[in-house]
Amino acid sequence: MFRAFGPGRVNLIGEHTDYNGGLALPFAIDRGVTAEAEARGDGEIVAEARDLGEHDRFAAADPGRADGWRAFVRGTVAELRASGVPLEGARIAFGGDVPAGSGLSSSAGLEAALSLALLAVAGAPEPDRVELAKLCSRVENDWVGAETGLLDQLASLCGRDGEAIRIDFATLGVTPVPLDLGDWRLVTLDSGAEHVHAAGGYNERRAECRAACEALGIEQLSEADPDAAAALPDPLARRARHVLSENARVDAMVGALRAGDLEAAGRLLDASHASLRDDYEASVPAVEDTVRTLKDAGAAGARMVGGGFGGSVLALLRPGLVAPAGVRDVLPGPPAALL
Ligand code: GLA
Repeated sequence: MFRAFGPGRVNLIGEHTDYNGGLALPFAIDRGVTAEAEARGDGEIVAEARDLGEHDRFAAADPGRADGWRAFVRGTVAELRASGVPLEGARIAFGGDVPAGSGLSSSAGLEAALSLALLAVAGAPEPDRVELAKLCSRVENDWVGAETGLLDQLASLCGRDGEAIRIDFATLGVTPVPLDLGDWRLVTLDSGAEHVHAAGGYNERRAECRAACEALGIEQLSEADPDAAAALPDPLARRARHVLSENARVDAMVGALRAGDLEAAGRLLDASHASLRDDYEASVPAVEDTVRTLKDAGAAGARMVGGGFGGSVLALLRPGLVAPAGVRDVLPGPPAALL
């Protein structure tokens, strides 16, 4: 039997930039999904979602469509086989400690853990991690119906213990950035509003970004000339302004971290949130309440994290601050691996 772990992720900054050829600064967290898998001789995949007590069963050669967690499992099997992995029957079970819908990407953790465990069952060599991230992202896009980018999968598969990674989505270049917080804390607080990428505003924002690119005659919104972008009709101008300003904040955050200036890091989180709320309109009332709770408690900065429209809020807390009830520390952990 093979076991693999796939971490969730926190994106420190650089939200809704991945599918716009921009910059982001995520880290893999020390929580995620553990999957186990062993071969079965009958060509069937039998899967169990332990936390839900639910099962699925399908032919490896013909997974067919399904909803919810089953779409992730069927998609991972289908995409591995389509990439030439000789995967036949397998028994799979998985469980984790990242709540689904919390915005910490339990889905990328699941895809990463499943694909590593199933590659091992098939006796196939592990592909390049960026290629594997693309395969996992096809699971989201083509099987789950969420047009997500590569942020979560790259963070889960290419993260570095104790570090954040700066990803340039124009080149898929990954640069480690030390995350030395000293006695400061990064915490998340769940807004209680569950977000679902396949629904909600996520796909709508992607369509708006495509429309802005078409109007500007460019491939990726991050290439936009700021003046030309400002002349777009509303809301496209604001969507573009968010992407351009967020890219700049990613590099400002890298600078702040390298300089050990965590007050500046907090201000950048606040600025990112304001941009996501006002220009990108990816916040919801429950998230605003959660940001306010954290700021009222004295957080140096707080912002929605992940796709938005619900999910968690990330906050940076100065040493000694008494945190509001319900916060969870998020620590950078190692990337996905076979255990
Ligand atoms: C979700 C998606 C990512 C990314 C973020 C927003 O987490 O899965 O690809 O687009 O939203 O930054």
